[in-house]
Amino acid sequence: MQMYDLIMKKRNGGVLNRDEIDFFINGYTKGEIPDYQVSALMMAIFFRGMNTEETVDLTMAMAHSGEVLDLKDISGIKCDKHSTGGVGDKTTLSLIPMVVSCGCKVAKMSGRGLGHTGGTIDKLESFPGFSTSISDKQFIDQVRNIGVSVMGQTVDLAPADKKLYALRDVTATVDNMSLIASSIMSKKLASGADAIVLDVKCGSGAFMKNLDDAKALAKAMTDIGKGAGRRTKAVISDMDQPLGRAVGNAIEVREAIETLKGNGPDDFTRLCMELGSRMLIMSDVCDNLDDAKVMLEDSIKDGRALDTLARFVKAQGGDESYVYDPSKLKVADRVTEVKAKCDGYVSHIECDEIGMVSLTLGGGRVTKESEIDLSVGLILEKKVGDRVKTGDVLARIYASDPEKESAALQRFEGTYEISESAPEQRDIIIDSIE
Ligand code: URA
Repeated sequence: MQMYDLIMKKRNGGVLNRDEIDFFINGYTKGEIPDYQVSALMMAIFFRGMNTEETVDLTMAMAHSGEVLDLKDISGIKCDKHSTGGVGDKTTLSLIPMVVSCGCKVAKMSGRGLGHTGGTIDKLESFPGFSTSISDKQFIDQVRNIGVSVMGQTVDLAPADKKLYALRDVTATVDNMSLIASSIMSKKLASGADAIVLDVKCGSGAFMKNLDDAKALAKAMTDIGKGAGRRTKAVISDMDQPLGRAVGNAIEVREAIETLKGNGPDDFTRLCMELGSRMLIMSDVCDNLDDAKVMLEDSIKDGRALDTLARFVKAQGGDESYVYDPSKLKVADRVTEVKAKCDGYVSHIECDEIGMVSLTLGGGRVTKESEIDLSVGLILEKKVGDRVKTGDVLARIYASDPEKESAALQRFEGTYEISESAPEQRDIIIDSIE
């Protein structure tokens, strides 16, 4: 088999078969096929597209290009959740304790990543002592004992994707639906879960800016999950404004804990309910969305979800007293209130710019080596649709460095639009694929 023939076949609109896809993924992972030929193939795929079968084959080949986590020593269905990322996305922190306290098992491998705020691991490290550097044995034993474990990514999951993503990044071939879907799903499949719920974000703070693209990505990923024999559902959720009110790290952990006590923001609580109820169904804990939501609500009302978070934090070396007293989580003490300059309704919040405010404060990573300040961030006191009067506090900004604070305040200018009439309310849940 020759790489040249594969490039020509795809360039002419042909369909690649599984052997051909395996050939190029294996050859590329081993360094036997050069970047220039794979770049040409990526561009041919970009223009000609891939059908569902090709996309599934590509995903499976990438998922098996490195280590595939073996979770068979944990009985029952192992469930996972993936978000395509957004501003204020602390969902894992509340969702996982909720579903685990209802009987789901979650064995999660997480990375740190780049972004406006840290990833789930960074946020969890707001609990003093918490560590995701745990052995494979502890990882498995902990899921058996308490239903949940989160491990930092130690094994080389889907190395073919790592190489391909870096290449696509510099050859203008990132934004192809089959390539994005296969890239995300290859890592999820290699992480070993039997069931996956996907939270596909849509809006100005998300990777997918419009609904058509978000729907296409959700469909492509659920098709892959189905093709790979995994139970997969997707929810398309609004990211045209930040999720909840808190954006940062420790500040988001506080909000996640408040949510587990029943005091969370409506949009965030609703998202957790929608994702969580699908996880309960996919894990065979119950068989319909209504019952699942009641179970999740009960887990909050009777404190089981909060206790599960405390058990999880303790099992991984963290101080669980912070779960019961989140005011202990260190939040920066330089606080600036940003106030409304006119009366009206909040009609728009520039979501990605709010993310940039957090990044400017030092709450996120620009490069893999960047140090994160877990204590900084912001609380949005007003969200889209809220009525405001001149002088009302729109947001509170928590900074630990005066220079970063003034840069962040400058960046915040213009992120809120206030209009005379109330905007149409958007539901956090835009669509779903079951
Ligand atoms: N995230 C990924 O992991 N892969 C892509 O291709 C795009 C976003």
